[in-house]
Amino acid sequence: MMWKNICKASELDQDQGVSVTVEGKEIGVFLVDEKPYAIADICPHAYARLSQGFVDGDTVECPLHEAVFEIKTGKCTKGPGSDVTIYPIQIVDGQVQIQL
Ligand code: FES
Repeated sequence: MMWKNICKASELDQDQGVSVTVEGKEIGVFLVDEKPYAIADICPHAYARLSQGFVDGDTVECPLHEAVFEIKTGKCTKGPGSDVTIYPIQIVDGQVQIQL
């Protein structure tokens, strides 16, 4: 599988997700403890972007009905909602790369 460039590492923020679309998939990219993580951006409960949610350490809260997800694992720790897909992600030479 190929790594795809999605954004620059300097665009990532500990306090806010970044939304990217790769091959038609909407991905939320987060920075936790200076490491990047990628999860499906669309909340499985209804339609809201988790990248626009409230980041608290290693969790993100959906902006619509406050479901909570672990950014590192995609696990839903507070409903409504269910676990979200996570994707392999890395930073190489200041470039964030993802595998779908
Ligand atoms: S849309 Fe995310 S909790 Fe409802």
